[in-house]
Order: sequence, then C-alpha cells, then structure tokens
Amino acid sequence: MLLTEIDHVAIAVRDLEAAIDYYQRAFGAEVEHREIVENDGVEEALLKVAESYIQLLTPTRDDSPVARAIDKRGEGLHHVGYRVDDCAAALAAMIAAGATPIDKAPRPGSRNTTVAFIHPKGSFGTLIELVQESGPAH
Ligand code: CO
Repeated sequence: MLLTEIDHVAIAVRDLEAAIDYYQRAFGAEVEHREIVENDGVEEALLKVAESYIQLLTPTRDDSPVARAIDKRGEGLHHVGYRVDDCAAALAAMIAAGATPIDKAPRPGSRNTTVAFIHPKGSFGTLIELVQESGPAH
C-alpha cells in the first residue's frame, strides 16, 4: 500500500477569514500553518485533525485554477491529498494504473512538501494530490 495517511482534504472558499472563523467556532479548530503559494495562485490555512489536515484554500488571483473551480462549481471540496513516502514512485504507479497526471513529475508544494496532481478525469471524478512530506534532497 503506497498511501500512508490522508494528508488533507482541501476545501475551496471565497473568504478564507470567514471559513477559518467558522471552523474555529464550530470545532475549536486552530490554524497550524498558513501560506501563500504564488505559483498556484492560492492562500491556504491548515487545520490539524489528528495526523491529517483540513486545508481551507482561497484564490489569490482571478486566473488561478482554484478561482476557476469556484466560478464553475462553487465553493466546496476541491481535492484530496494522499500522503505517500515517495511521490515519484506513487505518481509512476498511478500512471501505470491509467491515471492522467497534471504534473508530469513531482514538484514543490506548500510546507516543504513534494507533490503531484492527478486529473479527476480517469480518477473517478476526484482531483488527487500526492503529498510527500519531505522536500527533494538539495
Ligand atoms: Co492540496
């Protein structure tokens, strides 16, 4: 089994502050990490749940993929991040199983992770992100 944990469930929202406030009031959730990822045009807030995260995600610019997703489908579940020990090996296994990769090779993600996205088409309608917690060796 290549997956070691559900890394995060990512939820696209229009108003990040309002979403954080809601999760805080409803669950007592606290923001463990917050980051703007310029390449992806998103700001994220990670709320820790055991060894996993809820990732609240908002676009930082109109042309970001998350902005387009919200325009098209509204707010809500955007992708599921599966934690793996070796992102490249998991990506290769997915491609061998017939998946359509968005990232042809692993790339840097937030909080020093290494990630690769898989297109929902061919994966039963779910945008999948493979997440390796350590960054590539320097
Ligand atoms: Co993610």
